[in-house]
Amino acid sequence: KILVFLCLFATVHLRVPKRINTELEAYIEEKKAEINPRYKLHYHVTPPVGWMNDPNGFSFFNGEYHVFYQFYPYDSQWGPMHWGHASSPDLVNWEQLPTALLPDEEMCYSGSAIVKDDQLVLLYTAHVNTDIDPFYYESQYLAFSDDGINFEKYEGNPVLPVAPDGSPDFRDPKVWKHGDYWYVVIGSKTPDDRGRVLLYRSPDMISWEFLNVLGESTGNMGYMWECPDFFEINGRHILLMSPQGMEPVGDRYKNLHQTGYIVGTFNYETFEFVPEVDFQEIDFGHDFYATQTTENDGKRILIAWFGMWETPFPEAVDGWAGAMTIFRELVLHGDRLLMKPIDAMTSLREETVWDGKFEEGEKISFDKTLELIVTSDLNQKINIQITGSNGGDQILLQWDPEVRKVVVDRDGDIRQVEWSPIDSKSWRIFLDASSMELFCGEGEVVFSSRIFPNGEWLVTNLSPQSVDVVAYKLRRSVPE
Ligand code: FRU
Repeated sequence: KILVFLCLFATVHLRVPKRINTELEAYIEEKKAEINPRYKLHYHVTPPVGWMNDPNGFSFFNGEYHVFYQFYPYDSQWGPMHWGHASSPDLVNWEQLPTALLPDEEMCYSGSAIVKDDQLVLLYTAHVNTDIDPFYYESQYLAFSDDGINFEKYEGNPVLPVAPDGSPDFRDPKVWKHGDYWYVVIGSKTPDDRGRVLLYRSPDMISWEFLNVLGESTGNMGYMWECPDFFEINGRHILLMSPQGMEPVGDRYKNLHQTGYIVGTFNYETFEFVPEVDFQEIDFGHDFYATQTTENDGKRILIAWFGMWETPFPEAVDGWAGAMTIFRELVLHGDRLLMKPIDAMTSLREETVWDGKFEEGEKISFDKTLELIVTSDLNQKINIQITGSNGGDQILLQWDPEVRKVVVDRDGDIRQVEWSPIDSKSWRIFLDASSMELFCGEGEVVFSSRIFPNGEWLVTNLSPQSVDVVAYKLRRSVPE
């Protein structure tokens, strides 16, 4: 009897953590050595090898930030999804960790993480392909870790098997805790193809109760809402999500899919979210999608996939593809979210490359990494050209005081948006080996675009007058 009891106890309670897949990690190390580093980013999280899309499981556990990501190690294009993993004490200096989730019968699609009972718990979408229409189904799985490195999938998966209306599109759970309950928002669509977000709650993260449709397109907001996120700032609630396939309207919604937010109020008694402001894009660049946020130290921090579906990834021939943006702090100003580089970004400044007037026609050249702060009175036209010393892609950053729009022209593919500075009239521009992020003023307007230069960065003032520039070389803060 004692033996039977001990065996039972052992199977129930002594769950041996799933070992890291040593074969996969050895493969990653071997392949890493073959990567051509020319475009590899120096202070953005990128996959060690292979493909990366959405950030997942952004969380703070045992004194470290964790970021996971959609990962396919075996090719630099999308494939059966794993969760790659990196950790950092400060959101700037990153360490690569072993692959956290590997696909079994399911592909490990996007999801989130939360700390519960001293464990880091992942809640993610299991995507399973089938032979019959609609050819896949999606449900929500859990995985647990005691140490933040080894993850074990829950034996009782799925914990959320199917959407209330049976929609096969039921993915990207974002979990948070409020009072005694865990809540989750999940992306989905209506039977007539309108994007929507579903809200659930649970007393234990195992059994979930459907509460409400938190938000839904009335017709012009895309056919599917991916990667929802829901959080409070200044007593108001923000529904952040990535609608697929909104039609362009003027300067807006120019990418294949969008990421943006709705500001409103939420009531934990009725579970109703009342939108107060229409959907607004959060970043106007060419390559930005599938955001995720977390809160720590009272700050709401955002990260996104620095990429867009169905666009070329010139780095793919080098053995890797896809990146994360730099981390940004969100501030609600009136009805708008401002997005600023986190304060710790200044710790990357290694050397001042320029400080003073940047005359018409003058050039700044520097290899791989630069942060530029461009200041002017905005009463004259600005035209800053960014390209490689041996050519390659070219970005023109422009301002016209008559039109009052910031223009990012990447090889003729234009993104532009009106800008009224709240206070600062500066542009803060981050260049990494193949990327450009432009933050205007306090973060009223932000553009994130990948750009592939040949040779060193070459920044030229093509404005009809001088501007003031401070430029820093930034140090490497992610693994090679
Ligand atoms: C968003 C997305 C998610 C999905 C994941 C698959 O970019 O399509 O909805 O979970 O990527 O990799």
